[in-house]
Amino acid sequence: MSNFEVWRAADPVSAGKIGAEIISKTIINKPDCLLGLATGSTPVPVYKELVLQHKKEALDFSKVRTVNLDEYVGLPADHPQSYHHFMMDNLFRHININLQNTRIPDGMATDLSAHCDQYEQQIKKWNGIDLQLLGIGLNGHIGFNEPASVFTRRTHLTNLTESTRKANQRFFTSIDEVPRQAITMGIGTIMAASQILLVCTGVKKADILERTFFGPIDPMVPASVLQFHQHVTVVADDAAVKTILQKHPEFTD
Ligand code: PGA
Repeated sequence: MSNFEVWRAADPVSAGKIGAEIISKTIINKPDCLLGLATGSTPVPVYKELVLQHKKEALDFSKVRTVNLDEYVGLPADHPQSYHHFMMDNLFRHININLQNTRIPDGMATDLSAHCDQYEQQIKKWNGIDLQLLGIGLNGHIGFNEPASVFTRRTHLTNLTESTRKANQRFFTSIDEVPRQAITMGIGTIMAASQILLVCTGVKKADILERTFFGPIDPMVPASVLQFHQHVTVVADDAAVKTILQKHPEFTD
């Protein structure tokens, strides 16, 4: 586990502060860094803290570039549940980022496969991701790389599992409204990032976090591939590390 650094936080808000601190250090060291960003509930406190640092400490996003992990297919950018909307709402409209320097997959693209290739080209043109922020799904997905994903894949179109659609149903009025497909960076794209910042909070994630770092590296637990990455920083709250600490008390030392 020498390639892992683990930060333990009391709760999701504290985890957000630690996560934001790691991101802001990256920005200060490299003002035109390429950040890989994530959506979902977990990164919300991270973005809140980054916004605060921008407002109070003038954290400067003017040269920062960003690429998001994923987007639902079929939701236009102005749909309240689209990840375009999420990013504007939670981060972009509160900071001095140049929107020309941000990319989110376009779930409305007419040629989705060509769009995925262009997305990869853009990441290459920007010299690769310096730091990739990740949450983790209850089924171990990262981005929308669901169980049984191929570890080498790049950005692609994917079908969402019923477990993910159910987990995300809380944001929609009914399960039928939850899209069935998404565009996601592949595990190959994520693994090519120089640094991974995995934030994991809440007791519901305790078991999958343990399987991620202490189980076999298994495509059925996509996040377990992170055991192969050379620079992973995990920020987890007390509830999320509960199962791990029962068996591996050294995890947060
Ligand atoms: P969550 O989602 O942060 O809303 O739990 C994480 C994920 O599905 O990657």
